[in-house]
This record gives sequence, C-alpha cells and structure tokens, in this order.
Amino acid sequence: MCGIYAYIGYEESCLECIRGLKKLEYRGYDSAGIAGFYKGSLKAVKAAGKLHNLEEKLLSSTYKFSLAISHTRWATHGKPNENNAHPHFDEKQHLAVVHNGIIENHAALRYEMVQQGIRFSSETDTEVIAQLIALASGGDIIQKVSYALSKLRGSMAVALLHKDYPDTVIAFSRECPLIIALEPISGQAMLASDSNALPAMDLDITYLGHDEIALIKKGEVLFFDKDGKPLHKRQERLVHDAHLISKQGFDHFMLKEIFEQPDTIRAAFRGRLNEENAAVEFEGLNLTPTDFLNIKRVLILGCGTSYHAGCIAAHLLEEYARLPAQPAIASEFRYQNPIMSPDTLVIAISQSGETADTIAAVREARAKGAKVLAICNIKDSLLTREADSTIYLKAGPEISVCSTKAFTSQLTVLALFGLYMARLRHVGRDDGKRFIQEVYQLPQLVLSILEKAPILQELAIKYVGYNHFFFMGRQAMFYTALEGALKLKELSYIEASGYPAGEMKHGPIALLDENLPVIAFACNRQTHDKLLSNLQECKARGSPLIVFAFEGDNESASLANDIFYIPFISDALSAIPVSVASQLFAYYTALARGTDIDQPRNLAKSVTVE
Ligand code: F6R
Repeated sequence: MCGIYAYIGYEESCLECIRGLKKLEYRGYDSAGIAGFYKGSLKAVKAAGKLHNLEEKLLSSTYKFSLAISHTRWATHGKPNENNAHPHFDEKQHLAVVHNGIIENHAALRYEMVQQGIRFSSETDTEVIAQLIALASGGDIIQKVSYALSKLRGSMAVALLHKDYPDTVIAFSRECPLIIALEPISGQAMLASDSNALPAMDLDITYLGHDEIALIKKGEVLFFDKDGKPLHKRQERLVHDAHLISKQGFDHFMLKEIFEQPDTIRAAFRGRLNEENAAVEFEGLNLTPTDFLNIKRVLILGCGTSYHAGCIAAHLLEEYARLPAQPAIASEFRYQNPIMSPDTLVIAISQSGETADTIAAVREARAKGAKVLAICNIKDSLLTREADSTIYLKAGPEISVCSTKAFTSQLTVLALFGLYMARLRHVGRDDGKRFIQEVYQLPQLVLSILEKAPILQELAIKYVGYNHFFFMGRQAMFYTALEGALKLKELSYIEASGYPAGEMKHGPIALLDENLPVIAFACNRQTHDKLLSNLQECKARGSPLIVFAFEGDNESASLANDIFYIPFISDALSAIPVSVASQLFAYYTALARGTDIDQPRNLAKSVTVE
C-alpha cells in the first residue's frame, strides 16, 4: 500500500508526479504529497484526501520543482490528515522522505531519538526514517542510508531528497517494490512503486532488490548493496502498451476489467494446452513433472478474493486430481504451526504478488520444507521471487481496487493446473480432451454473460434499496457465493454474507424474512436437487429469491422471484461465468448507490501490511 513516484527530467516535475500518482492511487488514497527543490531549499506541498486535493493545491502554489518525489498514502500509523501526509522531513529540514511499508521498530527508535532531544512533527513511522538518516554521523548519503537500513526493521520502499544532493533522488527498498526507469534518449529518470505509473514511452527499467540502494540522476543510476558496495544490475527494456492502463471509454476501470474477461481468460490458457495429448504445458516451471508426481498434499494460500480462488481450486484438485488439497487464509496460516513435509506443495495465489500476509505465509511454509508454486499476475513481484516457481496469469494490469479479471484468470490457471495434476495421475486422454474443450468455450460463454449486462443492471436497480443480502451455494458455488458477497460489500457497502446452502438450517435461516434477499448460485449439477430444497426453505420464509441458474433450469425458475441464466458448463468451471455475472450485479448496485467504484473507501489494492 502507498504509492511512490519520483521524476527527474525536462518536464515540470509536479505535473509528471501527479500523472504518475494518478496511476498509483489504487494503492491508497488517504492523502498525497510532493517535495522538491525550490530556490535552493527543500519544499513540500501536501493535502489530505484524494489526489485531486493535492492537484488543486499545486495549482495555486508558486513552487516549480526540477525534480520531485511524491506519494499517495494508505494510512497505517497516524490519522489520514495533512500533517501525517508524506513527504516527511528531519527536524532540520535537510531531507524529505516518502515511504511505502511499515517500520516495525518505529516506536523504539522514536523513543531513543526523543531522548536525544529530537522533535517529531507527525504520528507516522516514516518520520523516523527521515530523522534517522539525518542523525547518521559522517560519510556520504550512501553511508547514511546504510546506517539507517541497519537500524530499521520492517518493510520499506523509500525515496528521499537531500539538500546536499540537489540533482539526485535517493531510493532504497526492503520487501516493497520500487522500479527505476530511464528513458534511453533523453535520460529522463523515474522511480515508481509499479510499472503502470511510468510514462507511455519505451524505457530501460531495473527493479530495486532487497536492501539495495540507488542514486538516480538524469541519465544515470548507480546501485549499491546495504553496506554501500557498488552493484551491477541488469536493465530490461519495457515497451509501453498505453491502452492497457486507460479506461478505453468505460466509466470505470472495474467495468473495463469485467469486459476484458473473454480476452484475459483466453490469455490464461493460450499456448498452455495441447489438445492432441490432452496435456498442459506451463512455460518456465522450475519444478519437474517428477516433483509434481511426488506431491502428496496441496495447501493453497491467499487473501480475500485470491483465497476464494484457492477454495475453488482445492475443491477441483480433490475432485479431479484426487489429491488432498486444503485452502488456508494466509493471515491465519502464518501464525499457525502448520504441519508440512517435503511432499506438500504450497500454492500461493496473489494478483499483486505483494500481499504481506501471503508472503509471510509462504516464508513459513518454505522454512518448513514445502515447495511453493506462485500463481501471480505481476511479473517479478516479491511473491514470484520467494516462490520455487510461478505460473503467471497474464491478465494485464488490474487497476480497479476490486479484483475481477484477476479472479477469473486465477480460476482458469488453477483449472489448468488441476488438469495437469490429474493427467499426471489417473485421468485418461479422452477425459482430458473433454476438459480442454470446455476450457476453450469459456471466453465465448463469458461474452454471452457480458451481453446480458443490462439484465443484471435492471436486477441491481430493483434490489438496490435492501441493506442486507444473503449469498448461498453448494460445493464450488458456495465459494463463489463468498466471492459474490465480498464484491457486493466492498463496492456498495451493503452488508452481505456468503454461506453453504446446506448450513442455512443450522442457524442463519433465523435471519430470513422479506427484508433479506437471498442470492443463490445454482450452477452445480451434483448438488442441484439439494439446493432446490434450500430454495424452498428460503421462499417459505418470505425472502426475495434471486437465482443464478443454468439455462433450462425450470425448477429454480419456478421458485425464484428473479432468475439469471448461465449457459451450461461443467461443475469444474461454472464458478467462472457465475462470478462474472455476480461482478456485474455488484458493479451496477454500487453504481446505483453512487459509491466510489474504482476506489472503495478504506481499501487499497496492494496490501503490504499485516
Ligand atoms: C477484493 C480484493 C482483495 C484481494 C486481496 C489479495 O476485490 O481485491 O480481497 O484479493 O487483497 O490481494 P492479492 O491477490 O494481490 O494478494
């Protein structure tokens, strides 16, 4: 969480920083700020709230910065007000710092410095970084930063300006992403938390690694390790594809990303299926088929939406690959004392590859000897560097805070992985081929749901006045219900819970009356009859009943107040089209309620704190 952007070049830096921060606002939007040199001294402009507040303030400011560091904040330590907005200065105003991450020992460091008479002016952990570097005695800025790194515990991506280095942005990082980019012809230099924020031009980029330090000037970057020794780092050419990060005429990134799903699902399986042999071929896997054959148990880790993908995948792996598989919420798992063995495969799912709880859980699993396979969207993210091997989603940047296309890509990749494991074990070629043919149908099937978006909008408008919703389903449809409820609550702030339909009678049925609509996902053939009984029970209690059912499901239709039809597909894959439909329902509900769809309150896209 929190986004960092810095610029050194020919443009007026404030404008370029605002442009970059706009692309990073998904990482947090509690406050924003910028610092640069003006007439020889360091100055900052900050504003509480969203980025447009800073933008307005800059319009009336006299400052013009030739180089600048900037920040958009997701508050952890200290209220989301202007005073706690980054950049933060040391007491003497010699340096300004922006930070993403958490300094775990900030209280102890602050206490020590206060004892030495240092005055702090914010409640943030970040200010400790600025004061600590300023206090480091002697040496150049690299030595001062090395000293600070040796004192600081926790995670950090930091950009700083120092009065003695007016042409340089200094950066360092530990467990948080920072990308440095140079435009090869003009020498303009940029620093960003995410490559999406970089300008639309071909750039030479370098990822700052663990405990590495960079001195960035126009046309030149120097790298150092934590002890100040020079490092040589490999640059990559990033060819910019501007259309990926524009709304392309959609009102919101979320809607654009929902409508991209036929393409992103296709990208998740393209080139990975060999129909002739009913085989799955994942590129660049560091684990061999023998490694996978030796796996006796699978544990799937993730948070939020990625956890829900893990639940569905665990179900699929047990059912089709006959492998014991268990999902776990990463934030819980990391504090358990889990039983692991070398024949346990841990699958860690994360769109961003930055989620702190997932990374910590992976470290715990690896420390106990398990092999880790990451399923991730962001290339070279922290998770992919921690894992033994990675399968990428190839979904392109997901900008909306609420995850949509990454979820269905996760489900697609995990279905492919299920087939891979099943084929290694007992599933024959013909069954494998049938599965592959169904996977090939997914983009078309999802497209047919998208074409019916106006029906879902009507449905959303009809039910928008209700303040509580109850989602239910059985087998994979239960986890799909959990995901449907999460989408609705995070976007529209409506209380929604997801429950296994068969468990209703053990408690939640007490909630049902005409004020609690039930949304039932009926797209599981195996348990369809049982679900029909549950629908009867809901109807008998007067709850309005909305059912997402396969085309031709007349029994569900006869019970439902409203029915939305999904084209038929097997139980192994039905979570994908049903989720697309429920994403649209949540989107249109939020639209009707007028909430902030791409940036729901209190959230951030990359959750790099515990
Ligand atoms: C919900 C959502 C979150 C994320 C969760 C994990 O729409 O986006 O629940 O799924 O924060 O994020 P990643 O997948 O980046 O680890």
